[in-house]
Amino acid sequence: MCFLYFQCNAENESTKKEPPPPKATTVPFPEAMYIQNGCISCHGPEGNGRGTRTHLLKDARIPNFQDKTTYVNGSSKEAIAKSIKNGIPGSYMKAYSHMRKNEIDALAEYIQKMQRNNR
Ligand code: HEC
Repeated sequence: MCFLYFQCNAENESTKKEPPPPKATTVPFPEAMYIQNGCISCHGPEGNGRGTRTHLLKDARIPNFQDKTTYVNGSSKEAIAKSIKNGIPGSYMKAYSHMRKNEIDALAEYIQKMQRNNR
């Protein structure tokens, strides 16, 4: 009797269907993107333009993301996203046009959070 009981259970186990794998979604993680894309090396971890590569950018004007008055292209989320997507021609800021819209938007939001004078 006992034997049969176990067999039935084992059978149930093997015929059980595996649940389908969860659908893959990519959620942009802006802090990692800011590091991996090298933004941090020019713009600095705090966005104040003091990164490890900043001194190599000869004579470059570099914005201070914390201070809205230093943005040449505007400091709104849309303006920042546009700067990232198109870059700033003739400067060290190249176009990150290969990035997806949701990635650029996430980066723009991340930069906006660095702004101190938010009014
Ligand atoms: C090689 C250095 C370098 C890298 C890497 C870099 N930037 Fe820049 N970025 C600059 C410089 C220099 C400027 C200012 C250009 C100018 O106005 O002449 C700038 C400007 C900007 C601006 C426009 C600010 C304004 O003045 O309106 C944004 C936004 C920005 N960068 C975001 C990013 C993001 C996000 C990344 C990474 C995906 C990144 N940058 C990577 C050097 C860099």
